[in-house]
Amino acid sequence: MTDSSQIFSSAAVEAQGDIQPSQPCIMLIFGASGDLTKRLLVPALYNLACDGLLSKNFAVLGTANTSISTEEFRARMSGDSDGIRKFHTRNTFDDQVWDDLVSRFHYQPGRFDNLDDFKALRQKVAELDAQYQAKSNILIYFATAPSFFGLICENLAKAGFRNEGGQDGQGWRRIIAEKPFGTDTESARLLNKAVLAHWQENQIYRVDHYLGKETVQNLLAFRFANGMFEPLWNKNHIDNIQFNVCEEVDVGARGGYYDKSGVLRDMMQNHMFQMLAYLCMEPPASFEPDAIRNEKSKLLSSVRVYKADEVARNFVRGQYGPSLDDKGNTVKPGYRDAPDVNPNSTTETFAAGKLQIDNWRWEGVPIYLRSGKALWKRGTEIVVEFKKAPEAIFKGTSVKQLEPNRLVFHIQPYQGIELLFQAKVPGPTLTLQKVDMRFSYSDTFKASRYTGYEVMLYSCTHGDATLFSRGDLVEEAWKIAQPILDYWKATPAQDFPNYARGTWGPKAAHELLAKDGRRWFEVVTPDVLERLPLFKGSDPVLLNSVIMALRPRTAEAGEVIIYRGDIANEMYLICSGEVEVLDASGEVIKTLKDGDYFGEIGLLISSPRTATIRAIGQTDMFVLEKADFSRILRDSPQFAEGMLKVAQDRYDLTILLDQLLGQ
Ligand code: BG6
Repeated sequence: MTDSSQIFSSAAVEAQGDIQPSQPCIMLIFGASGDLTKRLLVPALYNLACDGLLSKNFAVLGTANTSISTEEFRARMSGDSDGIRKFHTRNTFDDQVWDDLVSRFHYQPGRFDNLDDFKALRQKVAELDAQYQAKSNILIYFATAPSFFGLICENLAKAGFRNEGGQDGQGWRRIIAEKPFGTDTESARLLNKAVLAHWQENQIYRVDHYLGKETVQNLLAFRFANGMFEPLWNKNHIDNIQFNVCEEVDVGARGGYYDKSGVLRDMMQNHMFQMLAYLCMEPPASFEPDAIRNEKSKLLSSVRVYKADEVARNFVRGQYGPSLDDKGNTVKPGYRDAPDVNPNSTTETFAAGKLQIDNWRWEGVPIYLRSGKALWKRGTEIVVEFKKAPEAIFKGTSVKQLEPNRLVFHIQPYQGIELLFQAKVPGPTLTLQKVDMRFSYSDTFKASRYTGYEVMLYSCTHGDATLFSRGDLVEEAWKIAQPILDYWKATPAQDFPNYARGTWGPKAAHELLAKDGRRWFEVVTPDVLERLPLFKGSDPVLLNSVIMALRPRTAEAGEVIIYRGDIANEMYLICSGEVEVLDASGEVIKTLKDGDYFGEIGLLISSPRTATIRAIGQTDMFVLEKADFSRILRDSPQFAEGMLKVAQDRYDLTILLDQLLGQ
């Protein structure tokens, strides 16, 4: 039996003051000379040790092909520039805790295909077990490529690692396996078979590091510890759900792996489907690991498995191209120029799609997913969009349109929950404005920044598998992804690269939702808005009111955004892309790009447009409507003064503040 509170992070449980440290064990890491150990596992162990959550009866035995000594291994982990001092996540570094922890690290080289090496490892683990009194518990960590999992499992069994006949006392054996668990349905099935030929399912802990994130774990707490939303959590009240994992980073040095993977395998099949399951599953009978995992499995098995023509209608893909300067020179290379990537690669670095869950709760509610690399910002969000209130009641008032209520789960980097609704703007007329109620983790909790691996290592020692994926869940998730993989393989993309770095992705993603009469909800955070020079250093209240008012819009290459002579109803902030400004004779008088804005003067002096503005390439923008613009001007002296300066500098117009606010 495990304590249900363990699914929440150790930091949170620690706050309750009754937490036990991890259970004694020897942690045997395969692939210990690799990056994962240094960057994530060791910093996670260090965090646990700092918080008093690591058992004193604990030691690490690292193994890999690399022939180094224990002293060298410890030195690598300690290294100033490339070790714990670089990768730890705490505000200050505690040498004493580290010295104690690293003194427990040991290393023994070994080949994964050599049984004698495994026997030597078994011997060494037994010695360490005696030295550290680890109660014969062994936590085995596969930080290797999945192609070795089956072989390592077999050799571990042959070398006597299994706890057969109780010759090792009561000690447990648990294996943590890193992703990716398979590359398609068949390989996942074979991998499960290879692993389970020697070990029991309840000994296998398949990592999905999203499940280690506080904000992902909190999805369950939010849904099931609060009575308010669950009655609304269904097709009667929810219009659609959007999962968005936007990455600013490109493929970096991981081209070799990524080119065989693509975003569907790398992000969607695992991390995004896990979040989907948490958000949409039925309430579990308890917080026991299998009660939760059963519900997740049920949910994933209700997701419609598409046929080829359905994939074509419901999924789109993209690949990023280079970013270019004004002269057309490459500033940053595109995906095809990344190291170890095929120069003609048709691997997708972006995907967006719509899923349907065929069950009572969700029938007919579109579930939109979108993820990509080299996009305009980093941000993972889940947006639950409720059905709109009827607009008829506002007939005869100045309210033309109602916005739906939205509940936004900010997973990272900003962590919080936000509820968006409409409120009446103070004043004699009935005017509405979108406002938010917001819970921010950083304002409420004082917990150390964790890597996400702490809670997984900790809960594995306690035998709590809640945060790990089960074999059947992995296979269910592959079943959903499989037809998409097959269809994309059979019809290689002809238009790659089809989005430029730093944009919102290919236009097909916008069209996908436009077809349904919807649009992606772009979450703008203050730091993103401050990238625009107009808002740099602005006070938080101003930033928040602008964020509440912005509406995203993408213009296609050649599309006219503003016509000369038209009445001015909005201004535009360019997020990425380029537009040209044309005078009365159609001559281009200037170009504007990322960070620039236009259309403000017509709003400032209520005059018709003086120039035509046309998108040069695909241009992603935020639109600020006139009513919001005027309100923000009135409410924010900082914004008003900025605009007066713009009028003066750009148009040589002297406007007085009173004049402006009197509009
Ligand atoms: C990994 C993927 O699983 O998750 C990476 O392989 C991706 O490509 C990463 O960048 C994203 O993780 P996080 O925690 O930064 O959202």
